[in-house]
Amino acid sequence: METVVEVLRMNKGAGETSYAMNSSVQRKLISLTKQAVEKAIKEILCSQRGPIMKMGIADLGCSSGPNTLMVISEIVQTIYATSNTLNRLAPKELMLYLNDLFTNDFNNIFTSLPSFHKKIRQEKENNHSKNNNIRDFGSTCFVSAVPGTFYGRLFPTKSINFFHSSSSLHWLSRVPSGLKDESVRRSNKGKLYISKTTPNSVIEAYSQQFQNDFSCFLESRSLELVDGGRMVLSFMGRESMDPAAPYGCYHWELLAQALMTMVPEGLVEEEKVDSFNAPYYACCYEELKMVIEKEGSFSVDSLETYEIDWDEGIESEKGEGFARLMRAAYESLLEYHFGSRIMDDLFGRYARLLDHHFSKTRAKCFTFNISLVRRQQ
Ligand SMILES: C[S@@+](CC[C@H](N)C(=O)[O-])C[C@H]1O[C@@H](n2cnc3c(N)ncnc32)[C@H](O)[C@@H]1O
Repeated sequence: METVVEVLRMNKGAGETSYAMNSSVQRKLISLTKQAVEKAIKEILCSQRGPIMKMGIADLGCSSGPNTLMVISEIVQTIYATSNTLNRLAPKELMLYLNDLFTNDFNNIFTSLPSFHKKIRQEKENNHSKNNNIRDFGSTCFVSAVPGTFYGRLFPTKSINFFHSSSSLHWLSRVPSGLKDESVRRSNKGKLYISKTTPNSVIEAYSQQFQNDFSCFLESRSLELVDGGRMVLSFMGRESMDPAAPYGCYHWELLAQALMTMVPEGLVEEEKVDSFNAPYYACCYEELKMVIEKEGSFSVDSLETYEIDWDEGIESEKGEGFARLMRAAYESLLEYHFGSRIMDDLFGRYARLLDHHFSKTRAKCFTFNISLVRRQQ
């Protein structure tokens, strides 16, 4: 597998192993961006002297399930509430773009759109009756899907006012190109991602791929944003400069262990484990700042870090619940490489290893919340 574009997708539909049913942690992460989103919207609305007629808003890596429409409906509500507080007309036309990779379950989102529009209409009416002395909430929401990779151009020049993205930018565009060489690719023995035993050449390839990808992301968005446009991004990272820092990689480490228990039983070939390298990277604060400064199109309005409990909102056994979250996100990649036959067994073993792990340590993850403003050019 060279590129994730054709392979990566969150589990479809609304069944037990779907992303829709297993995205409570990501929902928590979205809620942590609320303040930054409110501030960004306020700044955008205040940056114009008169009312904004059209406002372009895009959620990048929207996936499918309850989080998808929750994000855009909260952004719309924030626009109405902020316009009201500022004593301004809300933008007449809101263009809401939902982006994800080509294989994303967009149909699942489309079926929920009628209730989304109904909810927005009701909120507009409620707001209007509360504030009928000032505001016209006559604006219209146009929702579109934009399939494609965010590591490249997705929108016309200067067409977007606000970008949002959550739990997506830790996915790389591809398995690091520095691992093209077969011997380097297989040198990370018995692992799926960076770990304590990973050779420096592999770590360097990961870091370089992240830098190239994130820089390309920033450059593309800077061309698509209007002057004064903003972005609020949140994604997984790691807690220190050590590439094998625990919060950045223990979930891959235990998944690798689960696969390795299947090797002596002849269920998985060891060389298959050696040759799998996850197209994922948990960057550190210093790398993130460095790429933003080097690329140069954005200034940082705020950059916060959070440590949250993975098991928040998980009602079942911790290990089993966490394994289900991971399965919803990682199964497509693992199936492509190892085959679908072993998935139930693999995630059962993974759940047991996780249970053991969580009996000794808390189920933490580390994230970045970053708010960026496009520099004037
Ligand atoms: C864990 S989901 C997050 C979904 C949603 N934003 C949320 O917070 O629940 C990550 C999403 O990012 C998408 N993604 C990963 N790489 C991408 C890329 N290069 N371009 C667009 N979407 C991408 C995946 O397909 C997936 O749907």
